[in-house]
Amino acid sequence: MAPRIPAPARTARARAQAAFAADVRCGLLREGPKELPSKYLYDAMGSALFEAISLLPEYGLTRADERLLRRHAGEIAALAASPARARIGRVVELGSGTGKKARWLLEELCRRHSTSYFPIDVSRAALAACRAELGDIPALRITGCLGEYLDGLREAAAGRGSGERMLVLFLGSTIGNFDRAGGTRFLGDVRRIFEPGDGLLLGTDLEKPEAQLLRGYDDPLGITAAFNRNLLARINRELGANFDLRNYEHVARYNQAERRIEMYLRAEREQTVRIPKAGFSVTLRAGETIWTESSHKYAPEEPRRMAEQCGFRQAAQWIDAEWSFAETLLLAS
Ligand code: AVJ
Repeated sequence: MAPRIPAPARTARARAQAAFAADVRCGLLREGPKELPSKYLYDAMGSALFEAISLLPEYGLTRADERLLRRHAGEIAALAASPARARIGRVVELGSGTGKKARWLLEELCRRHSTSYFPIDVSRAALAACRAELGDIPALRITGCLGEYLDGLREAAAGRGSGERMLVLFLGSTIGNFDRAGGTRFLGDVRRIFEPGDGLLLGTDLEKPEAQLLRGYDDPLGITAAFNRNLLARINRELGANFDLRNYEHVARYNQAERRIEMYLRAEREQTVRIPKAGFSVTLRAGETIWTESSHKYAPEEPRRMAEQCGFRQAAQWIDAEWSFAETLLLAS
């Protein structure tokens, strides 16, 4: 007898695979430079490689984010509840990963009242890791949500109790994967789901010397290169493609005009790649690149400027002294 797979799980998975296939097709067959959406870097292997990246001495971003959250957890909790001493009943995290960064803030809130943590992630493994990582905090309820940020956020907002404020964490400079206009648009989408008083804690990597950035995105151990190449490995695994992984070089460059790091994969020799489960073949010329990620870098006042256009006001900002990175607390007006 065939094993029974619950129908909703199967259709959700099938839908995710169809969307992946469509995005790969669209990015590789488009007129002009080839590209792939950076969100697909984070399958189980990609997420593990990113965890390794965050341990690299050359990549200080994650540690700076963590230092700020640890040092200022008390202030963040107090300011997010101000001025009315409101109750932050719900902490939502967009792209939680293991949930490790939310710990200090959740402990702070749980000291005051019971709190629920609502991690949203496209990786099932990440949501399981959240339970293991934070399960020991007393008075914390954890409700994981598998899926895209805005869908999860709508669900979190709909389920909250009356008079309960929501605090959304968007950490790690993930907003930097959007271009600047797209980032502002995203803040607007978040604001439209918020009620006045709801908070957004936004982590952004700040501008720093180009040489330092290039070291951070092209490390000597080759972890970032593996992270980047894994996107092609994922297409091989999930869509039955035949990318010859050794043929693709990791390239990181700083775009001065856009103030962002750009990552590419460059074909060293021509290759014709078949991607059966996406229903097409494509030829990459020798030297041709696929753009896989942008990481925008910000001036300290930029997060506030972007957010003010969308109906937020800045309550506070903290900047790490060791690695230029900002945590900005934005409250919905
Ligand atoms: C997780 C998106 C913030 O852009 O710095 C790390 C991902 N890419 N090294 C970043 C990443 C290459 C990271 N973000």
